[in-house]
Amino acid sequence: MTSPAPRLFPQISIMPDASSLDIANLPRHIAIIMDGNGRWARERGLPRVMGHKAGARTVQETVRTARELGIGALTLYAFSTENWQRPPQEVKTLMGLLKTYLQSELEKLLQQDIRLCCLGEMAKLPRDVRQVLGEVIDKTAGAQGMTLNLALSYGSRDELVRAMQRLASKCAAGEFDASAITEEMVSRQLDTAGQPDPDLIIRTGGEYRLSNFLLWQASYAEIYVTETMWPDFSREVFYEAIRNFQQRQRRFGRTGEQTPARLATT
Ligand code: FPP
Repeated sequence: MTSPAPRLFPQISIMPDASSLDIANLPRHIAIIMDGNGRWARERGLPRVMGHKAGARTVQETVRTARELGIGALTLYAFSTENWQRPPQEVKTLMGLLKTYLQSELEKLLQQDIRLCCLGEMAKLPRDVRQVLGEVIDKTAGAQGMTLNLALSYGSRDELVRAMQRLASKCAAGEFDASAITEEMVSRQLDTAGQPDPDLIIRTGGEYRLSNFLLWQASYAEIYVTETMWPDFSREVFYEAIRNFQQRQRRFGRTGEQTPARLATT
């Protein structure tokens, strides 16, 4: 028996039913490690960059789905501090896709009441990307429907080092003693300051690792790995990840007996 030919375009499906989800018990913050673009392209005999192009379309769909469901915050790992080591042509394509995405999505973000934030070192991005990113961040700053965090030139260790540097400077300036530093103070120095920690982290592409993503914030996140490559990440797979999350018992260090049946978010 021959296996079916891989699809060239991301899955376009009839709207799956969201009624199987417990809408009162949704994750407040979902973070996604979008992996598998390269393998998706290779399976189709295409250059890697075609996988990223298809992946950009999946970003649009996923943002829309999250917003429709009423998710408070969605974080997408789009470009890591380590991704700068990729071939220059691939980096250039990714930056170009990002710029095009930002330019084409501004109106939609505004219509959907979505605020865009950037996690990572924006200053490291090419000037033209930085410019359009800054513009979209400014224009959507008042939106309250959902926060979309794009992790760009983001690495969790880098974020923690920057946070520690700021805290150390404040200590040196005599603002407080090092022994007074609390978990809340560290959280307030992170790129996600003011946002809830992710309740659910989804990783596509089948690898079981965090890849320097939200290491502090992921302390109590539920992790869901799917074999689906990012360009094929559909509404169905997204719903399945949420359904799976809703079946978990989140104990936050307590015993099962101490934990109410429903403790999806803190
Ligand atoms: C990982 O797949 C994916 C990336 C490093 C980039 C993610 C970028 C996009 C989804 C498109 C552009 C983003 C936006 C926000 C418009 P990989 O290349 O490591 O895949 P592989 O593991 O199969 O090689």
